[in-house]
Amino acid sequence: MIRRATQADHPWIAQLATEVYRDLGDYGQVMPQWLVQPGVLAWLDEDAGQRRGFAVLGFYVDRQLARTVADLLAIGVGPRHQRGGIGTQLLEHVISVVAAVAPAHGIVDVRLTVADTNLVGQRWYAKSGFHVVDGDHGHYANGQRAIRMARPLAPTTASAPEHAPA
Ligand SMILES: CC(C)(COP(=O)(O)OP(=O)(O)OC[C@H]1O[C@@H](n2cnc3c(N)ncnc32)[C@H](O)[C@@H]1OP(=O)(O)O)[C@@H](O)C(=O)NCCC(=O)NCCS
Repeated sequence: MIRRATQADHPWIAQLATEVYRDLGDYGQVMPQWLVQPGVLAWLDEDAGQRRGFAVLGFYVDRQLARTVADLLAIGVGPRHQRGGIGTQLLEHVISVVAAVAPAHGIVDVRLTVADTNLVGQRWYAKSGFHVVDGDHGHYANGQRAIRMARPLAPTTASAPEHAPA
């Protein structure tokens, strides 16, 4: 079951983030600060009272793009529960939430950042429709290059002929 995280869940999210992102930096410090920012929402996957995974989404105005952006800040599944479909369900949930509010806020896609070293994560996101929009989007605390990916919300018409008959 996916539910909104409450403040009582923040330490658990920070703990799991510390574990699954330990290569990237100290997310035990960073995550609690993210979770209390205005515009940040978090969800948990829970089964029989056991929390198994989380997703953290941020809405903010990107000054460069001059529009509101929906940024998947973090997604993680406990090591014992990985590869059972939980991450995909959380990802789809986040995308559906963004799609529901997008028209009112001019949001065109869901964005995220993934480390260049995380090839599993990049492939996993690509399977859900994300593509690279910036291959050099700064660096993580531990030096990995950050790759920016985005998933358009509207069905893409890229393969349609330019002058399709009306
Ligand atoms: C990435 C992550 C959120 C995926 O969640 P999940 O519940 O394990 O993923 P799902 O079960 O929905 O999807 C499984 C698919 O993801 C990919 N995958 C996930 N973990 C993998 C691994 N260790 N090795 C290879 N492929 C993997 C595969 O494509 C897999 O499909 P398959 O099992 O049919 O081969 C989870 O593995 C995780 O928390 N990883 C560490 C943190 C991370 O990398 N977060 C995302 C990048 S910021």
